[in-house]
Amino acid sequence: MTDLLTAKNVSLDRTGPDRKIRPILDGVDLSVKQGETVAILGASGTGKSTLAHILAGLLRPSAGQILFKGVETVALQHPQNRQLRCNLQMIFQDPYSSLDPRQTVSAILNEPLLVQNLSAAEKQTRIELALQALALPLEALCRRAHEFSGGQRQRIAIARALVGQPSLIIADEAVSALDASIQARVLNVFLEQQGHTGLSLVFISHDMTVVRHIAHRVVVLAKGRVVEEGPTKKVFENPCSPYTRQLLQNGTWKDVSR
Ligand SMILES: Nc1ncnc2c1ncn2[C@@H]1O[C@H](COP(=O)(O)OP(=O)(O)OP(=O)(O)O)[C@@H](O)[C@H]1O
Ligand SMILES: [Mg+2]
Repeated sequence: MTDLLTAKNVSLDRTGPDRKIRPILDGVDLSVKQGETVAILGASGTGKSTLAHILAGLLRPSAGQILFKGVETVALQHPQNRQLRCNLQMIFQDPYSSLDPRQTVSAILNEPLLVQNLSAAEKQTRIELALQALALPLEALCRRAHEFSGGQRQRIAIARALVGQPSLIIADEAVSALDASIQARVLNVFLEQQGHTGLSLVFISHDMTVVRHIAHRVVVLAKGRVVEEGPTKKVFENPCSPYTRQLLQNGTWKDVSR
C-alpha cells in the first residue's frame, strides 16, 4: 500500500512569554496508508492538536514537509486545490470554534459536496445518510449551528467530515465529548466507511479502549517528539518506551506528567 499522507521531520517553534524559543514539535515523522487508522497518543499538551493542524495544512510548520496525495498540505488552501482539500477533512477538538454559528446545518453539510459531481438528489441522499448515521433529525437541516449543544455540534462536525466520503479524516478528540452510545455509533460509521471507501484516519484520543478498538498503528508523542511508534497490539502489549508504559499504567493519557 502506498502512503496517502506523509509527514517528514516536522518541527514547530514558538516564542514563550520569556522570549525564549521552545519547540512545540520536534522532528516528527508520520505516515498513513490508504484504509489505515493511525492513532496519535500522548499526555495533555504534548502537541497532538498542533500536529493535527499542521497535517491538515492549517498551520505552517517551522520545518519539515507534509504531503497528501503528493501535494504539500499547506497548498490545500489554494483555490486550485479545492477538490483535494475536500478529500482531507478535519474534525476539531472544540466544536464551538469549528462551525460557523450562523450557518444552517444544510449549508454546513452541502459545503464538502460543492466540488463533487453529484446530482441534487444524490447530494440530498448523502446528507440524509450522514444525519442518520449521527442520529441527527432531518429537521436539523434548516436550523443554525448556534442552536445546538456542544455534543450536537460535534455530531454535525463529524457529519460534515463524512458526507463527502473523503480519503482522509483527521479526528482530534472527535468522539470524546459524546455519550457512549453515540460514540460507539460514530466509531462504527468510521469503520464502515473504511470498509466501503478505504477511508484513512488520523485518530487522536485519550481513550485507550477506543484506540485499541479502532487503530491499526499508534504514534506516541512526548514533549513534541515521537517516543514510540508501532502496530497497536504490539505497543499496548509490549511498549518499548518507559513513557508509553507510564501512560498505559495510568489508564488514561490525560494524567501523565510531561
Ligand atoms: N499558537 C501557540 N502559541 C504558543 N504555544 C502554543 C500554541 N498552540 C499550542 N501551544 C502550546 O503547544 C503545546 C501543545 O499544545 P496542543 O494543544 O497541541 O497539545 P495537545 O497534545 O493537543 O493537548 P490536549 O491533550 O490537552 O488536547 C502546549 O504547551 C500549548 O500551550
Ligand atoms: Mg489537543
